[in-house]
Amino acid sequence: MGRSSRISGFYKLSPSERQRVLADWASLSPAQVASLEGALELSQADKMVENVVGTYALPLGIATNFVVNGHDVLVPMVIEEPSVVAGASYAARLARAGGGFHAESGESLMIGQIQVLELADVEAAGRKVQSQKQRLLDLANSTDPVIVSLHGGARDVEVRTLRDSPRGPMLVVHLLYDCRDAMGANMVNTACEALAPLVEEITGGRVNLRILSNLADRRLARARCVVPAKELDTENTAGALVAQHIVEAYAFAAADPYRAATHNKGIMNGIDAVALATGNDWRAIEAGAHAYAARAGRYTSLSTWSIDPAGNLVGELELPLAVGVVGGATRVHRCAQVALAIMGATTARDLAEIMVSAGLAQNLAAIRALATEGIQRGHMALHARQVAIAAGAVGDEVDQVADALVQEGAVRGDRAQQLLANMRQSKSRP
Ligand code: MEV
Repeated sequence: MGRSSRISGFYKLSPSERQRVLADWASLSPAQVASLEGALELSQADKMVENVVGTYALPLGIATNFVVNGHDVLVPMVIEEPSVVAGASYAARLARAGGGFHAESGESLMIGQIQVLELADVEAAGRKVQSQKQRLLDLANSTDPVIVSLHGGARDVEVRTLRDSPRGPMLVVHLLYDCRDAMGANMVNTACEALAPLVEEITGGRVNLRILSNLADRRLARARCVVPAKELDTENTAGALVAQHIVEAYAFAAADPYRAATHNKGIMNGIDAVALATGNDWRAIEAGAHAYAARAGRYTSLSTWSIDPAGNLVGELELPLAVGVVGGATRVHRCAQVALAIMGATTARDLAEIMVSAGLAQNLAAIRALATEGIQRGHMALHARQVAIAAGAVGDEVDQVADALVQEGAVRGDRAQQLLANMRQSKSRP
């Protein structure tokens, strides 16, 4: 029997006990375990960005219970927000009862854009580009022999005409480029810059921008899960009714951009946390996700929820996921390497399939909580600990102050300070 990601009581362990369980589960070396804390040295950080004065740490948690395409997976998440790791783990448990997440992803095709202006006839220029496609592809592929040797590289050239821009008509040349296991921004940008003079020669126009598009709609990832209704039973409400309320929550997001923005933010809580843990560019993923959510001309939900004929709750999520397992911060940051090892993600597609599952799980956790007891009860218990720490509580004081804040229903910094002062005063009394 394989390893199970259903590790009961994981949340009750101390961080170092969790490290031990994780090391055993994922066969991590002592050096890999050490990398879970303080993985980025100042000298490395100094080579990543400019004017470095330090590094900035965030919590790294492990979401349990995930089954993705039949494999048990532990999902590393880097996030500052309480409840996300717990929520993803809880929802993954619900999905597990229905066989887990079924995820798929397409080729790692990115789109590079070349903007061409000052054309007498935009359509005719587009036709000329199409007629010289092979020349353009050959030139693009000459910029990166390594990706070509890995069976990636330039795949196709497409043209689009923008008739009504504020600067008049323009042609946009799209270079479709298979980035394999890299996110690919650098290789696509390099190829677009290399193509620009040839595009000018072919069209007789002037090239302005040469840059990849973050609307990576040729690099989609999809996940689906089925939750048996009885798994959704609560103390007061039958699972079938909870499922119905979840579908109503989805309907709200499908119809209303104000709600869709928040609904999709919940999805991105899961996806961004895995992106951060693996050193991926979460701003690129965010940009792609929200642009994709508006692809029909109106911003809407990225996920859908329905009830199947057997009464099960069915969730589906599709979005662009331009992520890599090589290059960039993923290579430099030791913790990102360990995060990939924990998941056993060796290709960009493995990673995208786990990420889209984490997004769907996080969405389920949020809308289930919202459609039942509301999110504040669970959220406040964790938030209270942050408020207690911010008020100066240390050691056992953190839980004592947090519990008192929750009991009083007043999770505020000023009250935490009062409680802490009272607690310390009564302890110092003889
Ligand atoms: C909070 O970070 C995310 C939620 O607002 C998502 C949602 O409303 O679906 C809880």
